Amino acid sequence: MIFWRVKPLNDILATAEKKGLHRSLGAWQLTLLGVGAIIGTGIFVLTAEAAQKAGPGMMISFVIAGFVCGVAALCYSELSSMVPVSGSAYTYSYAVLGELIAWMVGWALVLEYAVASSAVAVGWSGYFVGLLHNSLGIEVPALIANGPYAGGLINLPAVVISLCVTGLLVIGTRESATFNAVLVAVKITALTAFIVIAFPTMKSENFHPFLPLGGTGTVGAAASIFFAYVGFDAVSTAAEETRNPQRNVPIGLIGSLGICTVFYLLVSAGAIGAIGAQPLIDAAGHGLPPGSLALAEQCRQLSDAGTHPLVCSREALALVLREIGWEKLGNLLGLAAFLALPSVILMLLFGQTRIFFVMARDGLLPEVLSRVHPRFKTPHIVTLITGLGVTFAAAFFPVGKLADVSNSGTLFAFFVVSIAVMMLRVKEKNRHRPFTTPAIWIVGPLAMLGCAGLFYFLPSEAQLVFPVWGSIGLVFYYLYGYRKSHLALGIVTASGGEDLLAEVRPLADFASDDEV
Ligand code: ALA
Repeated sequence: MIFWRVKPLNDILATAEKKGLHRSLGAWQLTLLGVGAIIGTGIFVLTAEAAQKAGPGMMISFVIAGFVCGVAALCYSELSSMVPVSGSAYTYSYAVLGELIAWMVGWALVLEYAVASSAVAVGWSGYFVGLLHNSLGIEVPALIANGPYAGGLINLPAVVISLCVTGLLVIGTRESATFNAVLVAVKITALTAFIVIAFPTMKSENFHPFLPLGGTGTVGAAASIFFAYVGFDAVSTAAEETRNPQRNVPIGLIGSLGICTVFYLLVSAGAIGAIGAQPLIDAAGHGLPPGSLALAEQCRQLSDAGTHPLVCSREALALVLREIGWEKLGNLLGLAAFLALPSVILMLLFGQTRIFFVMARDGLLPEVLSRVHPRFKTPHIVTLITGLGVTFAAAFFPVGKLADVSNSGTLFAFFVVSIAVMMLRVKEKNRHRPFTTPAIWIVGPLAMLGCAGLFYFLPSEAQLVFPVWGSIGLVFYYLYGYRKSHLALGIVTASGGEDLLAEVRPLADFASDDEV
């Protein structure tokens, strides 16, 4: 029996009430929080990988990925408005599908948040190295600027930024609402400037052939570029800290997703139109896999010959501006990414510690992970462990592969949420639903199908990581959580965990200047 130990919704809601986190976020702040978490490496860096997989057809890829996120967001919205507590998909699954599935979802969210942090760190490294080279003429040796996948030894800039962000989180550095808003403005300004400059230089011939690697390439790119939308569910994890979450969470989720989709479409159109986006192919006519040595080698040869195609760039958008003659603005865009991407790492890592925290509160993870530093009032142990894992992955793996692995976990979590929302419609027909997903019997199955479909089109390594990671999780669950679960031991609403959590800085700090 897999649907066991279902945590009653009323218990969860009572637990949230008891904890009484300060509700300080409004719809606008939530939308800003969402845009802050969403826009990052996906558009600034992975545009190159999407082009390598789909060519100009990556515009369709953005639409497909955005559509799947949109239907998943509608499902998220219903659940997050009904269950406005921390823990996101993990908590919802606990209430609907039981402990085992909830554990699997929480475990999958590690891939979403922690591995995504590594991916963004690697993306940041590309912009950092490019900025040093183009603005100051400083060359970071290739050996320490790349992992082994591109002929290097270690990605040192990615290591440094991961460690710095971990350190900031351990000492509880506050990213105030003002700071978050400034960084969101920096990103939006950079992307807007990009669109304004790139659009007039667009050439229609750059869009031909539109689907050089066929429909499969386009959907494969959608599965990867899905990463560009990851983070919108950070809004739902803030439900507990939101004023009138019933109204504001759905607005925040759908609003931030909508804003980002429009930007992504315009930016990708601008990049393709300005300098073209044709993939590099091997002798047999197949696209070279992003993050492979073969692609790195072909890119090196082209670079030596003075050609810089979009698909080779580690700082795709800056490259486009430089190639069309806006050298200085290209550097400024690089500076914007350099400044703004660390905050995405910070939010993802923070989200990860929050989820671990809720799982430890439920007794599914060792209590030591929810230990709070006496002076900094942060969950320093779980932050350090997670930060070291993130640093390791960032040191040795390419951004695209990390993003694909992160996507595999995220797609699983979204898939489960779509099932949960439909099951709850049947099981708890009469429960009050402040936000009702429209046409749930169409939207829910579409979200499920969309997630399963994108998972199917992920590269096979990413598909493999997920079951391996899941199996490790299952072993851990049966060795630990199964016996220590507070629900099983009848101590679900014990105050110990709640007191601890209440001491920890809430997510609202990222979006509100109110003292909490
Ligand atoms: N969506 C986030 C990014 O693109 C994770 O960096």
